[in-house]
Amino acid sequence: MLEQLESLYGQGLAELEALTDSASLHEWHIRYLGKKGELTLLLRNMGGIPKEDRPSFGKRANEVKEALTAAHLERTAQVEEQELATDLQEGQIDITLPGRQQKVGGLHPSTRTFRDLFRIWGEMGFQIYRSRDVEDDETNFTLLNMPPHHPARDMQDTFYTTEPNIIMRTHTSPGQIRAMRELGENGTRPIRVILPGMCYRFEQITARSEVQFHQMEGLVVGRNIRMSDLKGTIAAFAERMFGVGTGVRFRASYFPFTEPSMEVDIECFLCGGKGCNVCKYSGWLEILGSGMVHPTVLQNGGYDPTQWSGFAFGMGPERITLLKHGIRDIRYFWSNDARFLDQF
Ligand code: DAH
Repeated sequence: MLEQLESLYGQGLAELEALTDSASLHEWHIRYLGKKGELTLLLRNMGGIPKEDRPSFGKRANEVKEALTAAHLERTAQVEEQELATDLQEGQIDITLPGRQQKVGGLHPSTRTFRDLFRIWGEMGFQIYRSRDVEDDETNFTLLNMPPHHPARDMQDTFYTTEPNIIMRTHTSPGQIRAMRELGENGTRPIRVILPGMCYRFEQITARSEVQFHQMEGLVVGRNIRMSDLKGTIAAFAERMFGVGTGVRFRASYFPFTEPSMEVDIECFLCGGKGCNVCKYSGWLEILGSGMVHPTVLQNGGYDPTQWSGFAFGMGPERITLLKHGIRDIRYFWSNDARFLDQF
């Protein structure tokens, strides 16, 4: 058996010398030193040796094992170095090839419209006030002069939650109440804010209406705020947003939280008011609702309506974006289709 051991040793070393790649080195290791390798098998059969010879055989076997292990390590290091050198030689890359263009992400069209709005209203001295998406019925309706059973509630089909009286806001107007109460210091301080945010309505989803959409509200409260302030502010905004010389038109309307109330049309920014298919050949686009803050609403915000007055307005950024880019279907906005988003 000792002879067998010595010949195994010699053979192993010789084979190792001839190996030139790491795959066969790995195989060699399994064959000689693995759990079912030849050396292991030999040691397992030690029972066949006379008792008195076993210690010296075991000693030699361990020496052989260590020697083979060391030789394997050394050869592996040599081969790996050689392989690396070959790789570097053969794998040279052509650094003159033009690189592959990385695709850069873009901003959602609504985000872009909001950024324009924030910049313009910011320049005009308005602060952003973020109000909550989840509202209570009272703030969303009652405090805005829409008590229970008010018919105007019908215009805003509501998502109710499992909590009593807790709803998803149907418009950004409840933020008016929160802004007045939080910033007004019990009706002693003037306010000039915009209130952007998502609104939710339980509606049939069609090309023209979605269950979620953005609104951007504006609110000004002060002493001697008059309708001319509202008109001048909206006219200045229209010129900044849609171009110098853009005309505005006010039409009498009704909202429970303003008195008087007006709808605002701006001159069609696509045809300059001449008439096109976007403005349905009228030359005008309906862009926002507005009015003088109703005395009841001022009072609910903590202000004395005999001393304070204000104006408010609300617009839909998606509508502006739709018109601007000729997008025919509002469902594109929240469907996350990259083919749509990539265009912006
Ligand atoms: N909250 C109204 C809506 O969702 C929009 C609106 C109209 C807001 C007139 C206002 C306003 O602040 O003065 O239809």
